[in-house]
Amino acid sequence: MKDFIISHPMGELRIYHEPTKAFLSTQTGKISLCDGNFYITNRSLSEYRSWERFPKDFIFDCNKQYVESGGGLSQLMSILTNNFNLKNRPIAIDPFNISLIIELLELGLENGLSFKKTYRNEIRVYLERANLLLDDTKVKFYNTTLSEAVDNNPELVHCADFLIDVAGASMYSMETYNNYRYKILK
Ligand SMILES: C[S@@+](CC[C@H](N)C(=O)[O-])C[C@H]1O[C@@H](n2cnc3c(N)ncnc32)[C@H](O)[C@@H]1O
Repeated sequence: MKDFIISHPMGELRIYHEPTKAFLSTQTGKISLCDGNFYITNRSLSEYRSWERFPKDFIFDCNKQYVESGGGLSQLMSILTNNFNLKNRPIAIDPFNISLIIELLELGLENGLSFKKTYRNEIRVYLERANLLLDDTKVKFYNTTLSEAVDNNPELVHCADFLIDVAGASMYSMETYNNYRYKILK
């Protein structure tokens, strides 16, 4: 059941009263965001850990280089930057229209003052995650696809100890993802 929609000429934000299978993001939350090309979801680290292809050897280690492809508004970057004193900034690669998503979330907050507090808090969390990607002191963000990022930025080749991709680039083309996974991993 839809509680609320913000339709924008280029995308939309929807808040569902109850979980639905209509949108990918509702596996994990009540808020669905679309930038006109992609659904931008927001899984937590515990949801990541239960993902079949999540790296089985994943550990937190301040000396490792973490790269996330297609992270959208997942929790991973905020955990890495807030909880660990990493030697190297984590790298996020995602082509989504981040300024549009920030605009939609801000519109959601402005227009949603009558929402339940939980929705407002959720929107704030996603705004923080989006703004974190734009904070160059904390995250190195490549606002493009995995393949274009690696092809155009030689520093990405064989840079990563861990590549995390939960329903990101791998969801759109497993073949391309596998090719670039080998290029980006050490
Ligand atoms: C379904 S969301 C998954 C987000 C997050 N990983 C999660 O599980 O909540 C898909 C994400 O993949 C991104 N994406 C789509 N094609 C991509 C590509 N070729 N390379 C990297 N990211 C891509 C989208 O922009 C979107 O943020």
